Amino acid sequence: METFYITTPIYYVNDTPHIGHAYTTVVADILNRYHKLFADDSFFLTGTDEHGQKVQNAAKARGLEPLAHCDEMVLRFQAVWQELAIQPDFFIRTTMPFHQECVQRCLQVLFDKGEIYSDEYEGWYSVSEEIFYTEKDLVNGKSPAGKEVQKVKEKNYFFKMSAYQERLIKTIEENPYFIQPDGKRSEVLGFLKAPLGDLCISRPKSRLNWGIELPFDSEYVTYVWFDALVNYISALGIHTQGPKGDIFDRYWQSAVHLIGKDILMTHAVYWPTMLMALNLPLPKQIFAHGWWLTDVGSKMSKSEGPVVAPLDMKDLVGVDPFRYFLIRDIYLGNDAKFSKELVLARINSELANNFGNLASRTLNLVQKYLDGAVPAPSETQNETKELCILALQCAPKVRDHIRAMAPNVAVEQIISLLTATNKYLDTLAPWKAAKSDLPLAAESLYSALEVLRISAILLSPVMPNKMATLLGWLGWNKPPNFEDAASWQLLSEGTKVSKGEVLFPRI
Ligand code: ME8
Ligand code: MG
Repeated sequence: METFYITTPIYYVNDTPHIGHAYTTVVADILNRYHKLFADDSFFLTGTDEHGQKVQNAAKARGLEPLAHCDEMVLRFQAVWQELAIQPDFFIRTTMPFHQECVQRCLQVLFDKGEIYSDEYEGWYSVSEEIFYTEKDLVNGKSPAGKEVQKVKEKNYFFKMSAYQERLIKTIEENPYFIQPDGKRSEVLGFLKAPLGDLCISRPKSRLNWGIELPFDSEYVTYVWFDALVNYISALGIHTQGPKGDIFDRYWQSAVHLIGKDILMTHAVYWPTMLMALNLPLPKQIFAHGWWLTDVGSKMSKSEGPVVAPLDMKDLVGVDPFRYFLIRDIYLGNDAKFSKELVLARINSELANNFGNLASRTLNLVQKYLDGAVPAPSETQNETKELCILALQCAPKVRDHIRAMAPNVAVEQIISLLTATNKYLDTLAPWKAAKSDLPLAAESLYSALEVLRISAILLSPVMPNKMATLLGWLGWNKPPNFEDAASWQLLSEGTKVSKGEVLFPRI
């Protein structure tokens, strides 16, 4: 048994979630469910980032107090996650008292160690990214990502981030899996070739009061990124009584932070140096996935125009096929365009025509020729022996690819098995054999039922509802688990199977 701790970014509650937020959160949910299927000790954290200028501005624009605004927006996030069958083990809000207390404890520890000092600050602030830039960072008067910046000059508190630059470089160089994919790891190392500055971790209340007060100066609130990053450990109950007790030692060293590449630097630079200064171990991995792009190839984003609402897509194709599309269509690290046509093509070809078709023809034939009951297992044909080998290889491959953070490749293994099984049925043609050689028909149908059972178990983390339905049709009433998916000939003779409806209607 392994331990697994998967986190998503905590999202700004300046607006409702779009397809990009749904993507990260669905992928994390699927990884968590896979690890639970493997009987790993797995914990999945997501939540909302509620402080800072961006949220304060959004609240103001709606004429609401920040907390009232957050309370409303959080419900919307949670409602969307629920509709997408996302089940975090905990949903954290940075306005929760235990989190605020943990952030203050961390700040105090750093302050007492002399890791924080005050100084006059002059620079540029991007509200959209909630990031400080110096004059030389700017590109054509904007942030490197092209966001508007505003000039800021004030006394602030700084964390001595620069002191950890060498140690950070060494860590990244010595641990090739710490930052993934490789391209992103190189990007961070490239960034670290230039001298690292210190990190401004405060905002004077006169400018921004929506934040966690600094424990050592009540005139200031905490910089929102410092506050937000701490969520990954506050939720585990470090420094304060967390929501699930003290589970820090149990989970922390297996932490995987799944994020979009837009926030790679905060995670790969600010966060590890903060942890080093706090004398805490680093997470196991920071994994930056790619972006869903609009038709014109720019990042889909709330602040930049039309976005795909996840629930519109879900309403069109159903929650399980939608989750399937999100995990199936791209390698975790790559960018991809999002379009309705791609969603439909993928769902129709792999779910309706391949998987759904195998399910319906197998169940129909069992109904028609075998009285709707599972026949006795047999393996007289070479084709059957070959199919059995393929089927038995599937579960371990799926597990390996999930552990290697390649869920699309994991799913591909299952689809190949289904394709091979459709071919197998075409070859053995049980609809013909049934008339002359019933045992031969029974052999091929038994094997197809077994593949359906194994595939349904292995796809249950991706499509929990549909796969529960299919397993029910197969008369398999055990909760899905890895051992059963890695075994052959478990369906017992005589079990009644349902005729089944259309599992995945063509859209
Ligand atoms: O950055 N494609 O929150 P945020 C793929 N609060 N993923 C996308 C995406 C797209 N087009 N757009 C957004 C913040 N995402 C901070 C995080 S964490 C301690 C604090 C996803 O609301 C992706 O995961 O801007 C990205 O990193 C995240 O949403 C940014 O969400
Ligand atoms: Mg953003």
